[in-house]
Amino acid sequence: MDLKKIAPLAGVAVVSLSLLAGCGGSSGGSSAPAAGGSGGAACPLATAADPGNSEAPSGVPTADKAPKLTKTSGLTVAFSQNASNNPWRLAETASMQEEASKQGIKLTVTDANNDQSKQISDIKGLIAQKPDVLFIAPITEQIANVVKDAGAAGIPVFLLDRDVDHNVAKPGQDFVTVIQSDFIQEGKRAAVQMAAATGGNAKIIELEGTTGASPAIDRKKGFDDAIKECSGMQVVVSQDGDFTRAKGQSVAETLLQSHPDATAIYAHNDEMALGAIAAVKAIGKVPGQDIKVVSIDGEKDGIKAVAAGELYATVECSPRFGPLAFSTMADYAGGKPVPTLIVNKDQLFTKDNAAASVDAAY
Ligand code: AHR
Repeated sequence: MDLKKIAPLAGVAVVSLSLLAGCGGSSGGSSAPAAGGSGGAACPLATAADPGNSEAPSGVPTADKAPKLTKTSGLTVAFSQNASNNPWRLAETASMQEEASKQGIKLTVTDANNDQSKQISDIKGLIAQKPDVLFIAPITEQIANVVKDAGAAGIPVFLLDRDVDHNVAKPGQDFVTVIQSDFIQEGKRAAVQMAAATGGNAKIIELEGTTGASPAIDRKKGFDDAIKECSGMQVVVSQDGDFTRAKGQSVAETLLQSHPDATAIYAHNDEMALGAIAAVKAIGKVPGQDIKVVSIDGEKDGIKAVAAGELYATVECSPRFGPLAFSTMADYAGGKPVPTLIVNKDQLFTKDNAAASVDAAY
């Protein structure tokens, strides 16, 4: 979802998104020409401050046409999780379960095991059970049809952490809202960290998240667009690492071999970055020195890697959705207007705050 398309709140300081105009970079394992310019001096990102969160967008319509939720007690609630293969997913599920249990709500959770067909059949099974509310963390934007089916069955659907294709399932109509981080902004924040790490001169391997997942699409766009400001920074190759440590490692191993001149790795999440760090070590190079690595999430192992100097920075993408998910559901049940897009606030972990942030991380 491109949050640039939504007008910012009047009177609220707005993070400049001017660096994000246009879209580019290589993808799908294709190679781009090597970085050419001398970099640093001409790269405004290299000395830029962290742009921080984007502000909550305004002008977002409220969810007026989605199925209503009139029950306020004795609710049956279901959550379709797309995978449980990394600490981020486990933390998200735990946060949902913890909040449900605090509120005395029984939460049925399904796990799609990172398999799109399984998530579609999980959701069909949940629709048949007719829960009062359905939370869905979509694996990719392509599960929009089954989201629409749930809405058509009269179930209020709340999307968590990833979005679906709005051409198929309309926010505020087929589903109530999507609660997520601003992934384009995350990509931009990562680009600023990468520029600082490399002085604005880098040949970058980009490890993308699962193809078709909204964070993979938007984190690529945010990063690739931002580094266009710097002629010395180029993504020399970009490939799907499926958001997992094992795939991140194997893809990084291959790409480090095919691009021995690479000086940096941008990973769309910490798990892939940690896999990439292992791959860097395996070829006898030093992560943080020979190859600068930047990623997104802020999981415990990622923050530890920042504290150890192996990962330059990780932009937070919080998985702790429980409180906001259930309070949004309560607002909706109580007839309060609910915007069709709700954006999380995230921080940044660098060498300055990493050691102090490890204990609180998941
Ligand atoms: O949708 C959020 C992303 O999905 C997180 O960055 C990643 O770790 C997870 O699998």
